[in-house]
Amino acid sequence: KTVELANYRPTDFVLERVDLTFELDPTNTKVDARLIFHRRDGADPGAPLVLDGDELTLSGLLLDQNEVPAGQYDATPQSLTIRNLPEAVPFEITVTTFINPEANTQLMGLYRTNGVYCTQCEAEGFRRITYFPDRPDVLAPYTITIIADKATNPLLLSNGNFLGGGNYDEGRHFAAWFDPHPKPSYLFALVAGDLGVVEDTFTTMSGRDVALKIYVEHGKEPRAAYAMDALKRSMKWDEERFGREYDLDIFMIVAVSDFNMGAMENKGLNVFNDKYVLADPETATDQDYANIEAIIAHEYFHNWTGNRITCRDWFQLCLKEGLTVYRDHEFSADMRSRAVKRIAEVRHLKSEQFPEDAGPLAHPVRPTKYREINNFYTTTVYEKGSEVTRMIATLLGAEGFKKGMDLYFERHDGDAATVEDFVKCFEDANGRDLSQFSLWYHQAGTPMVSASGAYDPAAATFTLSLEQMIPATPGQSAKEPMHIPLSFALILDNGSTATPTAVAGGEVTGDVLHLTERKQTFMFSGISSRPVLSLNRGFSAPINLHLDRSTDDLVHIAHHDSDLVARWQALNDLILPVLMESARDVRDGGTVTCPPAVISALIEIAGNDALEPAFRAQVLALPSEADIARELGSNNDPDAIHTARTTVLTAVADAGRPVFQHLFDTMENGAGFSPDAASAGRRALRNSALGYLTYAEQSPVRAAEAFASADNMTDLVQALSVLAHRFPDAEEADAALGAFVTRFDDNPLVIDKWLSVQATIPGAGALDRVKALMENRHFVASNPNRVRALVGSFAFSNPTGFNRADGEGYRFLAERILAIDPKNPQLAARLLTSMRSWRSLEPVRADHARAALLTIDRSVQLSSDVRDIVDRMLKG
Ligand code: ARG
Ligand code: ZN
Repeated sequence: KTVELANYRPTDFVLERVDLTFELDPTNTKVDARLIFHRRDGADPGAPLVLDGDELTLSGLLLDQNEVPAGQYDATPQSLTIRNLPEAVPFEITVTTFINPEANTQLMGLYRTNGVYCTQCEAEGFRRITYFPDRPDVLAPYTITIIADKATNPLLLSNGNFLGGGNYDEGRHFAAWFDPHPKPSYLFALVAGDLGVVEDTFTTMSGRDVALKIYVEHGKEPRAAYAMDALKRSMKWDEERFGREYDLDIFMIVAVSDFNMGAMENKGLNVFNDKYVLADPETATDQDYANIEAIIAHEYFHNWTGNRITCRDWFQLCLKEGLTVYRDHEFSADMRSRAVKRIAEVRHLKSEQFPEDAGPLAHPVRPTKYREINNFYTTTVYEKGSEVTRMIATLLGAEGFKKGMDLYFERHDGDAATVEDFVKCFEDANGRDLSQFSLWYHQAGTPMVSASGAYDPAAATFTLSLEQMIPATPGQSAKEPMHIPLSFALILDNGSTATPTAVAGGEVTGDVLHLTERKQTFMFSGISSRPVLSLNRGFSAPINLHLDRSTDDLVHIAHHDSDLVARWQALNDLILPVLMESARDVRDGGTVTCPPAVISALIEIAGNDALEPAFRAQVLALPSEADIARELGSNNDPDAIHTARTTVLTAVADAGRPVFQHLFDTMENGAGFSPDAASAGRRALRNSALGYLTYAEQSPVRAAEAFASADNMTDLVQALSVLAHRFPDAEEADAALGAFVTRFDDNPLVIDKWLSVQATIPGAGALDRVKALMENRHFVASNPNRVRALVGSFAFSNPTGFNRADGEGYRFLAERILAIDPKNPQLAARLLTSMRSWRSLEPVRADHARAALLTIDRSVQLSSDVRDIVDRMLKG
């Protein structure tokens, strides 16, 4: 059952109001849903009302308070159809269902986590609670009444503003909530249980006081302080940057320990994976702090981009997700170092989205069909979607972008909108045609741009020839040329940027070149000396760029470009070919050679105290093994890549030893931990130096000392991972792993780091370690965070361990998928995407991988989630 965009049509009935009453019970919760509808103007007067369900049993059905006769309706677990409904007047349907939260292992709908009732309804979880028109274009105000045992559930929460509550009957109490803002069912939430709270207030720009509450397990309140701070900064930033004010009296966040995703933007009641709320120096790394800040902001920003303006259908998912990711990226850039944030985004995009776009799971940012919507919460929809929004800002400039956003908020507040509606706002506000640009939403695949420059000293001209090619992707063989905004600079010998007197061959606005043809040549006049071309600066377009430049020219950019992102890109363009060449050489039985000019450029930048430490740490983080595999594209041997990369790393370590020693000695932060970006940058650089020194010294001693003296989780886990990855058989590694698990015995989120470190130890031995850890009492097979930390880290982040030449890694994953799927299909399907690049492996491994996929494929009991992924993976 494939859903197609082309088949969209509005509902026959308009939902006016929703009134839900929950009588909570761990295994037998009663749900009464009173829904007021009227037939839509112009709808077929005989059309039945069809409501969605998922594993439901109907226990009662009333029409305007009267029992509905058996012949007037049909109920199955998946749907409820009611016929002979009034033609012209509103009517009320009351549906009663009983559900079992305790048995809900899918974590969709109403479920229990550590004794707390909670919900996850996006995308189609609401239909697991009651029969309902469970689609995002059905919006209504909700009134919610929750009745539950008072002693075990002192807290009864739902969306909107609190109406009141009190005692109900023997041992039970109730609370009522009203959300005046019409919303689709996927934004509904309910939480009940016994939790601790951190409270604060925020005064909005128009002077309204909003109560802020973050609910966490008792005893963990101090670890919610950073999240609260991030929330207040997010609220302020959205007012200042986008003019968006919060619209209820209360904003709540609840942290739960069993959650399939990162977090969920339910109106006024966000539910979070506790991993993205809880932090303190002893238990959270700098990356954890940065993630919390970004995700708190992301979910808060959804209040406008997602909730006030929602999606017409799930094909429009990027309308809220791409835009909201763009907003959270901008927020983090303002809170931290903009350049370093951008480099991290580019790295993430290339390592996660580019492989998706180049493999069997490739799909457009705005897909046109799906079998299982849960499988489209992808890095293409989110991260590439954000890049598309960023390109609109690049094309229109900050002012033009703001005008378009303002119009979007004004024109579509309260709507369930489409991508076309969004783009039209930018067109109308700027008088610009974005139809060619819109191909970014519709054509999958990462465009490849080949560029070559030529300087003519006699004519004082620089000629840039560009050609674009968009690779074929599943279901899309022929592509149209796209509108690609390329930020550029012509950098002169002295480091300054040339300003051409004229440009011919296409549109140029500011420092942005508009590539719109398949082949296009730009000519820049008045260039009095030979420039070096810096192109796609700041990663202005999410493309693969092929531009042949000499080592000297790249080193020149690395030292002189005014844009730090471009400097990092130049260094990356220097080192990546070396790593690729080395990997090919090792695979084919040769040896690795590292050009000294490349190594010294890296070390020079790393040692340059004029540059911010976080940037230098990014420079020292060489492209990963997965990056090298992606760039090689085919016939990949992960062992050869690992050996090649380790050899290059060791060469850098040996050549830069004095610099690394200096950094290790001087990048201390001194007493008192602060999670701010500058302090985090110093820690990152020092830990990077530690890694290199360990390579140079070939001894675990320094890392073991660093482990012993660490006074925060960032340093501790870095030292642990250097020890375990570099010297897995050393006593020091064993001792550190043992000390770590003892110390954090009662903190599952920290145990996850311990599981990940071990799951990612390179080499064929990893699989046995992972299997042994699955028997460890800390591993809870039903908890998604534990599974992702152990099995997910192994499959996604251990190239040599997972891709064992004998195929055992793939067989293990297939077994796990088949075991998890009946309980939690979303988690199973997500884990399976770790095999999305299987076709680019060398033939022996590729055969093993296919065999493992076929084992899954042959299973008769697959969920629609896993069925969809395995089908596409074998077909595409
Ligand atoms: N809307 C949530 C967010 O990005 C993610 C929800 C994902 N849900 C799902 N069923 N895949 O903030
Ligand atoms: Zn989101």
